[in-house]
Amino acid sequence: MKQTTDFLKMKQTGNKIVMVTAYDYPSAKHAEQAEADMILVGDSLGMVVLGYDSTVPVTMEDMIHHSKAVRRGAANTFIVVDLPFMSYHLSIKDTLINGARILQETGANAVKLEGAEEVIGHINALTKAGVPVVAHLGLTPQSVGVLGGYKVQGKSADSAKKLIEDAKKCEEAGAFALVLECVPKQLAEQVSQNLAIPTIGIGAGAEVDGQVLVYHDIITYGVDRVPKFVKQYTNVNELISTGLSAYVSEVRHKAFPEDKHSFTMKEEELKALYG
Ligand code: KIV
Ligand code: NA
Repeated sequence: MKQTTDFLKMKQTGNKIVMVTAYDYPSAKHAEQAEADMILVGDSLGMVVLGYDSTVPVTMEDMIHHSKAVRRGAANTFIVVDLPFMSYHLSIKDTLINGARILQETGANAVKLEGAEEVIGHINALTKAGVPVVAHLGLTPQSVGVLGGYKVQGKSADSAKKLIEDAKKCEEAGAFALVLECVPKQLAEQVSQNLAIPTIGIGAGAEVDGQVLVYHDIITYGVDRVPKFVKQYTNVNELISTGLSAYVSEVRHKAFPEDKHSFTMKEEELKALYG
């Protein structure tokens, strides 16, 4: 399994870091089989798996429950788990308890949290206490209510300047990587060049140190429309709907099950039963 220092080396040697989300045992197995460098148990869980319309309702218990399953599916992959809404804001003590729970109860390797400013002290405390932290700037979905929707961030010179400064603060506070979501590619490139730690982009262009996408978006699974920054590599919705419709139809038309799907009793046993 890779270590936090391996990701730093990958940046230094120009090897792209590949991260993919996973939320359960099968998706984790798929991610490990595909040899992703890192799995993110994202709180996007709330939307793509649990059917909420934002990540805000996701709880610590949700994240722990799903992360345990991900670890069982991917024993040998570095796992990052999102700290959910409001789990790293109340006090440093609460943040440390939540960070420790993620590592101890799930076997994950690191946590991710959104924002700078008020959370810088929390990144620092977690890192000092031994909890590796991935920071997350740009579009930070837990603040969707404040941002006023899922929009590209850092388009103006002022907001870009702020993001560049925030990124540096995250690095100084001890984050070992930074996710950049939905920012102009020129800004993402600038941030990546400014930092020693690797940047992992989603909707942040190609000039970052790695990429992350949501599992369900990559394979078109349970999602219909996807954001502009997603590339849909395959469509499992179609496969699933073909398979399930055929099953429903075959049962109704008495075409399933066939003999080869059935168990039989020996003649002598039948005789003993009925005489
Ligand atoms: O929750 C998530 O999936 C994420 C990625 C989009 C970076 O935070
Ligand atoms: Na997230």
